[in-house]
Amino acid sequence: MAYRVGVIGGGQLARMMIAPAVELGVEIRVLAEQEGMSATLAATSVGDYRDAETVLAFARDVDVITFDHEHVPQDVLAALVEAGVTVHPGPAALAVAQDKLVMRQRMAELGMPQPEWAAVTGPDELAAFLAENGGRAVVKTPRGGYDGKGVRVVSDAHGADDWFAALAEDANGGALLVEELVDFTRELAQQVARTPSGQIATYPVVETEQRDGVCAEVLAPAPSASARLTDVAASVGAAVAEGLGVTGMLAVELFETSDERILINELAMRPHNSGHWTQDGAVTSQFEQHLRAVLDLPLGQATPLQPWTVMVNILGGPAEGGITERFENAMAQHPAAKIHTYGKDPRPGRKVGHVNVTGVELEDVAYEARAAASLFLD
Ligand SMILES: Nc1ncnc2c1ncn2[C@@H]1O[C@H](COP(=O)(O)OP(=O)(O)OP(=O)(O)O)[C@@H](O)[C@H]1O
Ligand SMILES: [Mg+2]
Repeated sequence: MAYRVGVIGGGQLARMMIAPAVELGVEIRVLAEQEGMSATLAATSVGDYRDAETVLAFARDVDVITFDHEHVPQDVLAALVEAGVTVHPGPAALAVAQDKLVMRQRMAELGMPQPEWAAVTGPDELAAFLAENGGRAVVKTPRGGYDGKGVRVVSDAHGADDWFAALAEDANGGALLVEELVDFTRELAQQVARTPSGQIATYPVVETEQRDGVCAEVLAPAPSASARLTDVAASVGAAVAEGLGVTGMLAVELFETSDERILINELAMRPHNSGHWTQDGAVTSQFEQHLRAVLDLPLGQATPLQPWTVMVNILGGPAEGGITERFENAMAQHPAAKIHTYGKDPRPGRKVGHVNVTGVELEDVAYEARAAASLFLD
């Protein structure tokens, strides 16, 4: 009998699990938030992931429940576990990815390298942190942020008053996370897969470029990464996966500093934009690897197929018409480009697809990927 995986959330990450599921013979089901979402091909249910009854009904006939995002509330996760449903990643690990304050606390306990940080509950505490950290800092809402929403550079103790007010009643008692403004030379990401049995596979560390808080491009592996950097990133990734008991894919977003230190920015416990290059550039894609990991199957090799892979996001898409209308031109001009689209309507800044190109010369590969992606924009 085929393995059955249930994915909560119908976005592009769930969508991209469908192809490897078909190839592996895994039956995949998706609980989508709405009709017509990215993963609609496998959306067997539509409903609210915050409602325990809906989620329990969806989980009835699957071997494992996993996720397209980290937002399923802890009481719903607890209800699943209580009902005997296998959940990967599990509630305890997910709790760390759901709240950036919890994440900072746990990373500190594990002795992981990270920026200076504090939990602040009002302008006075923020003022104290600013005074100790050169007058500028990054304030983050602990929960619900994505694509740079909920991240703000402040140099004034009152620069986050609106957020303090909005969060006054929440579980953290209105606390915000404040971090030193890291003067990084570049951003990196480390992908790790871990199975419930404890097998670990680490991908090569990659370089990520964010524009306006959104991932725009990934270079894999990270160019001019020393053996030491590669090793340190892999061991940080593995230590986080083991320390938190993560099951499935883990992405560790990192800052690299001018003195070649790496600091943890944040964690994602699922396939991640920084790992999309693996679809065409690695022996095992992060989506296949995630399915293998949550089913506790042996992991696939995480090694690159070619010296370089460049992933370029299609952000926004064409101002007029659909994405498919641009396909013919992109296919004709860039036959080496692997074009992935998410079935989403174009909208400014929205992630609607990406392009992967692999090859031997980084410059050529990057040129090709950027050129192909640009054909989908105006
Ligand atoms: N402490 C910091 N110092 C300097 N820059 C930072 C810091 N924290 C975040 N940034 C910048 O802001 C971006 C977004 O921050 P973060 O990853 O915490 O937010 P997010 O909205 O959860 O992100 P994502 O887009 O990954 O969902 C980072 O990629 C980085 O460019
Ligand atoms: Mg981030």
